[in-house]
Amino acid sequence: MRILAIETSCDESAVAVLDEQLGLLSHELWSQVELHRAYGGVVPELASRDHVRRLVPLLRTALGRAQTHPTQIDGISYTAGPGLVGALLTGAAFAQSLALGWKVPALGIHHLEAHLLAPLLETPAPPLPHVALLVSGGHTMLVDVRGIGDYRILGATRDDAAGEAFDKTAKLLGLPYPGGPQLARLAEGGREGAYRFPRPMLDRPGLEFSFSGLKTAVMQAVREAPLSEQGRADVARAVEDAIVATLSAKALRALESTGYAALVVAGGVGANRALRTRLTQQAALIGVQTFFPRLEFCTDNAAMVAVAGMYRLRAGEHAGRSIHVRARWPLDELRIPGSPVMP
Ligand code: KG4
Ligand code: ZN
Repeated sequence: MRILAIETSCDESAVAVLDEQLGLLSHELWSQVELHRAYGGVVPELASRDHVRRLVPLLRTALGRAQTHPTQIDGISYTAGPGLVGALLTGAAFAQSLALGWKVPALGIHHLEAHLLAPLLETPAPPLPHVALLVSGGHTMLVDVRGIGDYRILGATRDDAAGEAFDKTAKLLGLPYPGGPQLARLAEGGREGAYRFPRPMLDRPGLEFSFSGLKTAVMQAVREAPLSEQGRADVARAVEDAIVATLSAKALRALESTGYAALVVAGGVGANRALRTRLTQQAALIGVQTFFPRLEFCTDNAAMVAVAGMYRLRAGEHAGRSIHVRARWPLDELRIPGSPVMP
């Protein structure tokens, strides 16, 4: 089976081709970061319009690099939610039009399931069951992954997502959008312990997160006195330390409570080096192996949508010809591929 995958849930347009036997044949991506920078965040209408502009050229390149003719495509998967409705619709309409023309099935994929399955593109792939720490711009949660499609949320954020906390505090430090990676870079020159920001919910049992207090703490630090270059780096370092410490502690707690021997880290914040290092070290201490997607598959991409599509299309699922997307879509509403629909 060879499938084409399309991702347009937010500000990245991406197309990939995945072959069941040969693996990933191509993955193309266009990032809209420059387009939205002047506004300090993603402008939904601009995002939709740009997806429309980029999808055909991305498709051509992806098919060309994969040396694949449309007649060799057996199915199409596309991100159907959660995400920006207009952006999702551009990908869904594009995927469904191709599927109609090429007479193949199409299937809408849950964006977070795609993030969760991204590590399956790597060798070795993580074993099942495992705990997944899913940390992106819009979501932060610990998931009990018992099997593909069988997800139980162990804990989630009560307010801001980890990526949002990175981006908002970066903005307070005057860093351009999207601030997460820039804040991480600035933090490299920061001194440990120069500032100490709250590590919310760590003192309480359970697996929930809360990151909104970080903004206030950083705002106070920034307001107190004009910060030197070193001071800004110190603040960045303290923000990163607080987020990384909180995520790591709760991930370890989830591993202890499930007794699983594998931890998967997925989503854009999974690209953060401090987080990767700390989780790997701490998990190893309790005999747990940690699995990450490669950096480019942590942030939004179509390769992960292809992986999820491969499992589900192979099991005979398809969306019919209707173009249906969901801005909100709880992860635990998903079914195991191939299982009958409950009445
Ligand atoms: O998964 P993703 O690409 O998009 C969503 O589905 O949300 O995640 C994007 C988020 C942004 O908040 C971005 O700032 C954050 O991931 N991010 C990082 C790093 N790279 C991306 N945050 C901290 N350190 C990084 N290296
Ligand atoms: Zn994402």
